[in-house]
This record gives sequence, structure tokens and C-alpha cells, in this order.
Amino acid sequence: GTTLGASAAEKGRYFGTAVAANKLSDNTYVTILNREFNSVTAENEMKWDATEPTQGQFNFSNADRIVSHAQARGMKIRGHALAWHSQQPGWAQNMSGSALRQAMVNHVRQVATYYRGKIDSWDVVNEAFADGSGGGRRDSNLQRTGNDWIEVAFQTARAADPGAKLCYNDYNTDNWTHAKTQAVYNMVRDFKSRGIPIDCVGLQSHFNSGSPYPSNYRTTLQNFAALGVDVQITELDIEGSGTTQANTYRSVVNDCLAVARCNGITVWGIRDSDSWRASGTPLLFDGSGNKKPAYDATLSAL
Ligand code: XIL
Repeated sequence: GTTLGASAAEKGRYFGTAVAANKLSDNTYVTILNREFNSVTAENEMKWDATEPTQGQFNFSNADRIVSHAQARGMKIRGHALAWHSQQPGWAQNMSGSALRQAMVNHVRQVATYYRGKIDSWDVVNEAFADGSGGGRRDSNLQRTGNDWIEVAFQTARAADPGAKLCYNDYNTDNWTHAKTQAVYNMVRDFKSRGIPIDCVGLQSHFNSGSPYPSNYRTTLQNFAALGVDVQITELDIEGSGTTQANTYRSVVNDCLAVARCNGITVWGIRDSDSWRASGTPLLFDGSGNKKPAYDATLSAL
């Protein structure tokens, strides 16, 4: 293929990007989006603060702009994210206990129901594990409602949209030897053994000097897949430039293609200037929309 999406499709996979609704009027941005990608993730528009700014009052207008754009062009949609400690509306940040648990369940049910039939994969729970060597859950208001909050979120999402793949998504879960990776692996294995509905694991894969691309990344993908879930690379960006950056993008693509159940790659933005990173050049297109060496390496690896 001559584009990322078409080449990935030839391998039975998708190649996606995070999209910001307020950039859908930027011609350069939309031209690249429509040409190269066959999956989208709303960068912020489906998060709790965006979709339920006031308790019980839902606003899907910005998310729907992205959904409409994708549907009109046959692109898949990754839903991101139903339950997360971050980017909660103020009213939820101030809640705890059973009231927060009920609000979380209602949020998951309402959003997944609203988008039923339109979402390929949902990030049902995002970033629920702690960094470091402890291998435990992240402390958060949601975690303090009880350890079963994650499985309840998955069960609620399944009931609301039985056709969507339900994913657990996190960062720093790339290196197989790290405690956080092992902890997520153990949770997925436990869910599978107890019949908790989970279909996929998302590895955000934000690579930088503090958390570099690990040489055992393929092992991590293989081990998750062996639990009977799809594996998706969900927020890929790689700090650096030139040949070094291009080689890392190539390695990531090769690792995904080596694992049958690694069925999609999403980069976290289109141009370097679209990146959430305050500085640096972590994406596939430069600020003017030109293809970088990282783009060429990615396309040729697909
Ligand atoms: C980021 C967005 O890119 C930013 O625009 C926003 O200000 C903060 O969130 N992990 C995730 C994503 O799961 O939702 C985050 O997106 C990046 C880290």
C-alpha cells in the first residue's frame, strides 16, 4: 500500500491516529487524516469531563464531530476512555464512596449506550495501575470505591454495547520485566479465568528517554495475546528525530506484525505540532505536514 491505513489493512490491521475535533477545520490536518488513517481516537472529546460536564447531563457534540467524520469515511473508532482517574469533571473529583461508584457506572452505561454499534474498541478503564516496583493499583478516587471497580466497569460496558471490544489501556506496560506490566498481565489473566468480559489490552507506548522502547516489547505483546485478548498499540509517540526515531518506529511496527493478535496501531497525533508533548518531535509528520523519516520507516515496515 501507499498509505499507512491501506498497508495496515493488507495485513488485517488498522493504522489510526488521535484526532482533535477543533482541528477538523485545518486543511493540512484533514488531508493527512483522510489519506493515511483508517482508525481514529478522540484525543479528549470522549473523556468524562467532556461528555458529562454536569452530573447526568451529557454532551456528545465534539465527540460526535469526530465520529461523523470517521463514519463518513469508513474509519474505525476507538473509544477513549470510559473510566479514568484523570480528566474527570469537577463534580466527580469531589465525590467518593458509593455515590462515586454509582456515578461511574452510570457514566460508563450512558456513554457506551449512546455509541452502541459505532465503536470498534473501547478503553473501558485507563491507567489504573501504579508506577514503580510495587505492582499495585494506582491510588485514586475510583480505586477507593473498592478493588472491583475495574471489573464492574467492564461488565457495565459489555451490557451497554455487546459488539464493542473492551480494552484495558495503560502506559509503562511495555517492558515485560516491569512490575506494572506483570500486574496488568495478572489482572487480565484473572479476568479471563473468572469470565469478566475483556477483549483487548492497549499499550499506550509513549516512548521517551525516561521510558524507552524496550527490546522485550514483542515478548510483552506475545504474552498478553497468549491470554486470549487482542493487543493494540494505542497512543504511540517516540521522542527523537531522524534515523534513530525512524528505526524505533520500524521496530514497533515489526513487533506488532509479528504477533497475530496485535491488530492495530494508533499514533497520538498527526504532526509534531499536534503532539500533547510540550516539546519535541515525536510523530510521523513535521509541523508543516511533511512526511518524516519515521513515516517512511513505518510505511515500509507495514
Ligand atoms: C492527553 C491529550 O493528548 C492532551 O490533549 C490532554 O491535555 C491530556 O491528555 N494518556 C492518555 C491520553 O490516555 O488520554 C492522554 O491524552 C495522554 C496520556
